[in-house]
Amino acid sequence: MASSLHMMGALALGISCLIIVNAMDAAGDQRRRLLQAETVFDITQHGAKGDGTTDDAMSLIQAWKAGCEGTGAARILVPPGKFMMGEVVLRGPCKAAPPMIIDIQGTLLANPNPSAYSNLMWILIEHVDNVKITGGGTLNAQGPTAWKFAKEDQHMPVSFTFQSSQNGDISNLNLVDAMGFHSKLIDSINIKVTKLTITAPDESPNTDGIHLSNATNVEITDSTIGTGDDCISIGTGSKNILVKNIKCGPGHGLAVGSLGKRPDELSVGNITFSGCTLTGTTNGARIKSYHKSPVLTATNIVFEDLTLDSVKNPIIIDQHYFSKLVSEESNVKISDVHFRRIKGTTISEIPIMLNCSKTVPCENIELADIDLKPVGPAKSVSSACQSAVGIKPSGTVIPAPPQC
Ligand SMILES: *[C@@H]1O[C@H](CO)[C@@H](O)[C@H](O)[C@H]1NC(C)=O
Ligand SMILES: *[C@@H]1O[C@H](CO)[C@@H](O)[C@H](O)[C@H]1NC(C)=O
Ligand SMILES: *[C@@H]1O[C@H](CO)[C@@H](O)[C@H](O)[C@H]1NC(C)=O
Repeated sequence: MASSLHMMGALALGISCLIIVNAMDAAGDQRRRLLQAETVFDITQHGAKGDGTTDDAMSLIQAWKAGCEGTGAARILVPPGKFMMGEVVLRGPCKAAPPMIIDIQGTLLANPNPSAYSNLMWILIEHVDNVKITGGGTLNAQGPTAWKFAKEDQHMPVSFTFQSSQNGDISNLNLVDAMGFHSKLIDSINIKVTKLTITAPDESPNTDGIHLSNATNVEITDSTIGTGDDCISIGTGSKNILVKNIKCGPGHGLAVGSLGKRPDELSVGNITFSGCTLTGTTNGARIKSYHKSPVLTATNIVFEDLTLDSVKNPIIIDQHYFSKLVSEESNVKISDVHFRRIKGTTISEIPIMLNCSKTVPCENIELADIDLKPVGPAKSVSSACQSAVGIKPSGTVIPAPPQC
């Protein structure tokens, strides 16, 4: 009897061990990492001068290679100081015990000459799963020189590109004066972005804060973005995106799109913007698509709990984006869009504008508890609409919902 109880105990113990082992598969990599002594790969030990003018790119690339190719736990360190660098590609997969940590404490200054970048990217991180990028430091791309050359459709280098990676954690970084976009998350899954500060002047061209392209399961939270273009733009193929507690302004606001510019684009869906403050931006909650686009859908999009101060276009669907003179309509079908609890002031007399495609009208647009008051040049407010079916107002909606 005693021995069979003992056996049952051992069996139970065996089962619970199995369960623990299984649970460790998920969080296990990180726990195994804790058991290993971490090696710090400081770029100053890989040749970085840190005088702010010598190109220190090779030191970061070499520190990365040493950490990534080793088998222990690795922290790539940019210590306090000023490090100028041109193009940097940090590529995985890594052999190191995950997560790889990139700890940027100092300031990286980009080579300000836009022609120094072969792929229109300053810092590219790709094919690295389980990477944590943090440190409180700054990526200053010294954009003003490049802005002088920037023209419509002539792209300038992106400061920070995160591509083809899973389980990324990006936090506590400052992005300043990008030449082009400040950051792009591309072809990636399970990414958390938090506590970023993005700063560039109102008039800097095409300097989007964070742009998503074919990204799935992304959370962007607790960040402050002031720039010359969209604070956050969610493009082709992005799904299951949560944007929460963002301060935006100056800039062009929070956007889904633009969609449908290129023939190979993918549909987007399940996108929520929640609890954001927009100050002096040209748009608040926006969905934009091009004319003559491929057949796509943009569905289940929520903008809720937004506080606006002097915003030009608080609620706008524009399916004639950059194509006012083109007769072909957009083929992007926009449906199940929820604008809820959006309050504050606007400098436009038409703060609710639903301008949809004649080919594929917008469908199921909820407008709930909206209160937009005119300020500055706006004397009164009203709403306008084209090609939208199923507009569903609820609560108090000021201005009155549009009649389509
Ligand atoms: C989208 O990203 C996934 C990885 O998350 C990749 O496998 C796929 O090829 C990408 N699709 C396109 C069209 O680039
Ligand atoms: C949105 O999420 C729902 C529920 O998780 C899922 O069924 C649907 O496929 C998702 N849609 C898109 C476009 O990702
Ligand atoms: C929608 O946009 C088109 C193209 O710019 C414009 O001609 C039309 O007047 C707009 N509709 C409304 C309701 O403002």
